[in-house]
Amino acid sequence: NAATIPVIAIDGPTASGKGTVAQKVAQHLGFHYLDSGALYRLTALSAIRRSVAMTDEHGLAKSAEHLHCHFDGGHIFLANEDVTQAIRAEEVGNTASKIAVLATVRHALYGLQLSFRKAPGLVADGRDMGTVIFPHAPLKVFLTASVEARAQRRYKQLIDKGFPANMEDLSKDLRERDARDMNRASAPLKPAEGAYLLDTSDMTADEAVKQVLGWYAAL
Ligand code: DC
Repeated sequence: NAATIPVIAIDGPTASGKGTVAQKVAQHLGFHYLDSGALYRLTALSAIRRSVAMTDEHGLAKSAEHLHCHFDGGHIFLANEDVTQAIRAEEVGNTASKIAVLATVRHALYGLQLSFRKAPGLVADGRDMGTVIFPHAPLKVFLTASVEARAQRRYKQLIDKGFPANMEDLSKDLRERDARDMNRASAPLKPAEGAYLLDTSDMTADEAVKQVLGWYAAL
């Protein structure tokens, strides 16, 4: 019975450090890991590749529904192509944020997200893990950080991966993406009921991991 398998839901805005923290918590507990943002990014990449228009809601929902993806050892595959790097491009992230406003796309990805809940447990990272997908998760965390701290982190990530980056553009993109993620009608980004808030602006990833593990141990 999947409903008895523990879930730690970690939500927050883009570049808040969720991904790193969630993966480390999963690793520490030996839990599975769901990067739900990757599913929106995969849908975006698939739609871009197939030249589906951003106005074609039906086509976008189909892209989500027929997502032939798999996750293997930290690598992400679309059909059988390794797109681990490709889905991190800013263009793909921005497209993902745009298609994520569509209830049909969100609905199409619902079952796939639930299927990640497997023994011994799951750490799920996204925007609506605690509010919509796993509302009964025993531990919900809402990670935040200032726009400045997040732009700095995103800048470093992109440069390290060999993508071009510019601090001013990144801050502007983050603000726009936050506004879109928080103000959409369908599953807007907000702390779930009962979520612990964690501001990581002045924290290292390891400090944030320690805090989450502490909360989990205290359940
Ligand atoms: O976390 P990320 O930057 O990889 O996510 C990319 C986009 O996907 C983000 O702008 C909003 C969307 N998203 C979402 O709407 N719901 C989720 N659970 C995860 C991501």
